[in-house]
Amino acid sequence: MSPEVTAFFDPATFTISYVVKDPEGSSCAIVDSVLDFDYSSGRTDTRSADAVIKFVQDNNLNVEWLLESHVHADHLSAAPYIQERVGGKIGIGDRITVVQDTFGKVFNEGTEFQRDGSQFDKLFVEGDSFMIGQMRGDVLHTPGHTPACLTYVIGDAAFVGDTLFMPDFGTARCDFPGGSAETLYNSIQKILALPDETRIFVGHDYKAPGRDVYAWETTVGEQKAKNIHVGEGKDEGEFIKMRTERDATLAMPKLIIPSLQVNMRAGQMPEPDEHGDVFLKVPVNKL
Ligand SMILES: [Fe+2]
Repeated sequence: MSPEVTAFFDPATFTISYVVKDPEGSSCAIVDSVLDFDYSSGRTDTRSADAVIKFVQDNNLNVEWLLESHVHADHLSAAPYIQERVGGKIGIGDRITVVQDTFGKVFNEGTEFQRDGSQFDKLFVEGDSFMIGQMRGDVLHTPGHTPACLTYVIGDAAFVGDTLFMPDFGTARCDFPGGSAETLYNSIQKILALPDETRIFVGHDYKAPGRDVYAWETTVGEQKAKNIHVGEGKDEGEFIKMRTERDATLAMPKLIIPSLQVNMRAGQMPEPDEHGDVFLKVPVNKL
């Protein structure tokens, strides 16, 4: 089974959202949607999400799932906004509880912030499967970038989130709380154990030295042969050393503070105050 995959690239956060359609029907899933957010003004915008919704409506698609590969630190999820308009169940990895616990503390959340993943409609574990129309999806737990990262294998396509990037860019950082280069290396081996012809769709692309266009689709075979961090000839020790050294040089993503607070709530803003106003916090010297 080969799903029809349509990509939506967000140039502000270098995120790729996907509509994944059952080739034999009108059912689809939306992977990693984006709610635009301008941090300087504190304003949200639904341009990116509206483009996905328009595509769904123009093609008369039935949205069954809104899948999150993980709690993103660089963009806000638009899953609840999309759900309200076109339906679908919001799913994420069950280790979200670990992420909620960690960042519940960082943001000094009160007891009204539940750390049990109950904000999501479905918590997936390794080995779970789900249906999109007649098409089956399988869940791989692929932590390392974050504890809750999942890879969704849908027919011959794998949505790997932030584990592997394009072969010429390599892999995702592992220095956020709960991240681990060793764990990511092992998770990547799970992805590379899929059949060589499996299509891989990455969660971000930042171009790469010598490549002037954005790209997001590759294959397991290509990753095994050419990935600059984990391809042929690269071993675990080398990977961990490279990843750790490189991560130490990376700045925090621009939107990490708003993203975490919203995404750990399944894309919902914190509860409004007594006047109906919504606020996000900035923890000082915590990240
Ligand atoms: Fe990420």
